[in-house]
Amino acid sequence: MAQETSPSTDVGLQDVGPIVLLGPPGAGKGTQAKRIMERYGIPQVSTGDLLRENVARGTDLGLAAKAVMARGELVSDDLVCEMLQERLKQPDCKRGYILDGFPRTAAQAGWLDALLDHKLFDNSRPTRAWPIVIRLDVDYNQLLLRITGRRSCPTCGRIYNVHFQPPRVDEVCDLAHGTKLVARNDDRLEVIQPRLTAYDEQTRPVADYYERTGRLIPVNGDQPMDEVTAQIFRIIEDHQA
Ligand code: AP5
Repeated sequence: MAQETSPSTDVGLQDVGPIVLLGPPGAGKGTQAKRIMERYGIPQVSTGDLLRENVARGTDLGLAAKAVMARGELVSDDLVCEMLQERLKQPDCKRGYILDGFPRTAAQAGWLDALLDHKLFDNSRPTRAWPIVIRLDVDYNQLLLRITGRRSCPTCGRIYNVHFQPPRVDEVCDLAHGTKLVARNDDRLEVIQPRLTAYDEQTRPVADYYERTGRLIPVNGDQPMDEVTAQIFRIIEDHQA
């Protein structure tokens, strides 16, 4: 079983990133984003988490997104970009942020380029802001195991996996005492294939775009979690040097 990396919050870098984590469903974007957040003290901005929060709160956005997400399809670019713009205006994003699950379409990638070029709104960041784009590559069968085995704690948000990173007590969070772990609504078998198809058809071209412009850094996400984390930390620190 993979060991947890002990975080050393904020290693003293001034501004970090922004960091873009690309990869198919189950590649480990959320897992690694949390570790980057702990080490560098910049927030994880997960469009999936933001959408799920809106669904849970029953906002207009949540109502529009709920059925789309349950089918494993992508929510419209306009809704996602508007939601993200509001999130990135928050003061905690000033030093940098980790985009987990964005951009996912060519239109979203164009929107992000414009944002980082300060054409959309002034988020008061210094100008050098091209993202560090990391893609986690994982074998298809491994993805299926990761997605079907994933559980999370509804109280503290910690992610587990019944195959690779089980809690000490079956289906109960190690940290939030007694909280029963839950599976995500879109981790059902019949929704997994449409999510993987959406990745292949709509998000793979985004990675190709970053590759063509020399900005893509592929990482073998099939390794144990700690090894993936160590490689990502090296990439970030080399990039900042
Ligand atoms: P989102 O929430 O972004 O989900 P996703 O991209 O499908 O990715 P996952 O959260 O499933 O996987 P992950 O890569 O984060 O893996 P994790 O770290 O959890 O999106 C959900 C939906 O929201 C979309 O389908 C869409 O409808 C909508 N949406 C979101 N963003 C959108 C956008 N920009 N535009 C339009 N629509 C959008 O790991 C998975 C499991 O594997 C865990 O159990 C973990 O413990 C385990 N694991 C992780 N790493 C390893 C390892 N190295 N070894 C062994 N196990 C591991």
